Amino acid sequence: MGYGTGVGTRTAVVTGAASPRGIGFHTALRFAREGWAVALLDIDGDGVEAAAARVREAHDVPVLAARVDVTDQGSVRAAAAAIDASDLPPVGALANIAGVPSPVPFLEVDLELWHRIVDINLTGVFLTCQAFLPAMIENGYGRIVNMSSVSAQQGGGVFSKTPYSAAKAGVLGLTRSLAREVAGHGITVNAVSPGAVDTDIRLSGTSDELEAAITAAIPLGRQASVEDIAATFVWLSSEDAGYITGCTQNINGGAYIA
Ligand SMILES: NC(=O)c1ccc[n+]([C@@H]2O[C@H](COP(=O)([O-])OP(=O)(O)OC[C@H]3O[C@@H](n4cnc5c(N)ncnc54)[C@H](O)[C@@H]3O)[C@@H](O)[C@H]2O)c1
Repeated sequence: MGYGTGVGTRTAVVTGAASPRGIGFHTALRFAREGWAVALLDIDGDGVEAAAARVREAHDVPVLAARVDVTDQGSVRAAAAAIDASDLPPVGALANIAGVPSPVPFLEVDLELWHRIVDINLTGVFLTCQAFLPAMIENGYGRIVNMSSVSAQQGGGVFSKTPYSAAKAGVLGLTRSLAREVAGHGITVNAVSPGAVDTDIRLSGTSDELEAAITAAIPLGRQASVEDIAATFVWLSSEDAGYITGCTQNINGGAYIA
């Protein structure tokens, strides 16, 4: 292929990268800071273009933005084809960060909501992994990092409830099984499991009292910053992390210790 093996010769694909205060955007920025080319994907088309412009302003690396609905196989495949056809180097990392919360009590969850939460948080990970793995296998290098949540491990208890916990627990199963399947190709697959992170995801449905209670339950005394999470995604994508696969990296300030 004529490409070297260093970070500057690879592209990191980040889903859910549009939200200006979100984990995805800050992970894209962090990849770029460390020399990766970056492809930002998000269902918010204008937002993802603006996010890509901010990454380009901050770092001199190739950057691509695409409006992608991670629940739509055609949309995901089109993005993979567009990245492949672009000037960006081969995809070396996939950070699956797109997701939505759901604080609805169980008996009020209708089937439509159930499907929406599972589709975005879990099926989206399936679709992107399937779309980007062939190129990683061809190149003999790949790092997939999937977003789960402490909600999957402790049974909700932060903000979101059952459909979200189930979907994020599904991400852990997908991660472990896929890690085993693709290890022979030099590809690692891991999950990141944050507790509460200070982003806009809980803007609707939370309150000062709930946020204070969430923070009070964290031994380190604060919610995670987006940088705490972004740094872990980028590190798990590095060559140094090449012997770590099928793992769940907890990032919760001690709120859940297992
Ligand atoms: N913030 C927290 O406390 C927290 C804790 C644990 C896990 N997480 C997870 O981290 C991830 C990012 O959360 P955040 O707090 O940055 O939220 P955020 O709302 O700021 O960002 C989520 C992004 O996902 C995008 N998105 C939603 N549906 C999509 C779809 N169908 N296709 C493509 N993109 C889509 C949104 O447009 C948005 O840009 C989510 O998966 C979330 O479940 C967040």
